[in-house]
Amino acid sequence: KWNMKNFIHTEIERIRTLVGEHGEVIGAVSGGVDSTVAAKLMKEAIGDRFHAILVDNGVMRLNECAEVKKTLSDGLGINLTVIDAADEFLSKLKGVTDPEKKRKIIGNTFIHIFEREAARIQPKAGGEIEYLLQGTLYPDVIESISFKGPSQTIKTHHNVGGLLEDMKLKLIEPLRELFKDEVRALGELMGIPHDLVWRHPFPGPGIAIRILGEVTPEQIKIARHADHIYIEEIKKAGIYDKISQAFACLLPVKSVGVMGDQRTYEQVIALRAIETSDFMTADWYIFDAAFLKNVAKRIVNEVDGVARVVYDITSKPPATVEWE
Ligand code: XMP
Repeated sequence: KWNMKNFIHTEIERIRTLVGEHGEVIGAVSGGVDSTVAAKLMKEAIGDRFHAILVDNGVMRLNECAEVKKTLSDGLGINLTVIDAADEFLSKLKGVTDPEKKRKIIGNTFIHIFEREAARIQPKAGGEIEYLLQGTLYPDVIESISFKGPSQTIKTHHNVGGLLEDMKLKLIEPLRELFKDEVRALGELMGIPHDLVWRHPFPGPGIAIRILGEVTPEQIKIARHADHIYIEEIKKAGIYDKISQAFACLLPVKSVGVMGDQRTYEQVIALRAIETSDFMTADWYIFDAAFLKNVAKRIVNEVDGVARVVYDITSKPPATVEWE
């Protein structure tokens, strides 16, 4: 009979048979629920013959890379290598303002770095790395057959295609029959921390598409800090799980303000929060006025370079979830 416990057992056996006694597998992890659950399954199946790679692209959230490392490596015992490639990504993003160009640069640089690092990995059993782990879910499988949406195609299939062609790796997809809620249930059952299991989705291009205009170290610092305050307050208010996705966006415009008796002329943060079941359509989330007031006050007081905060009250459609 099909249940989650049986699924774990069957899938681990399937992986062991597929990979064999000496086979090795690599896979990219992001700190998201899909790649983490997939990686945990691999770890249970073949231990350190699974090699997880986390590429720090410089546009992850505040402290995110260190936290993912702690959870996956120390917490879940996954054999993880963290690649600090922030400078490489940022130098390629220099001067780029077009959203699709940002996505393309980040996607291509990711593939390049992943391949380079994968070639450096020493197989544990002395064999060769034969398989690439992919956290593909059932809806992605269906979508890649029937529908190629703009951002969706870029985010998953672009990466898979590139890696498979260049590295001659076979694909291993332990989640390919599961829906998101099933992956979450699986994650809880396998001891993955609650906060990670229920984390809002985060786009591959990270905060690069939440910094409108050029992505510079100064802008990253501002966007990260504002986002951190916003999410911290959402968690403190106990509403994180009611919201499907929330983030701060840094707008490339300056606005006049007054601090003490000084005139200021600084940038604007836009807050976004949505409720949705499928991310194809979405409604903006209705916060208490007091909540918004407090977040705005904290951001303006604590984040250097920001003097105004606005809340995005556009649904999808016509707006998208992300600003870029
Ligand atoms: P949009 O902005 O298209 O977002 O309404 C819908 C969902 O997709 C995420 N998104 C992306 N995810 N790479 C990703 O991995 C991307 O380029 C990308 N663009 C949007 C977005 O965060 C939301 O959850």
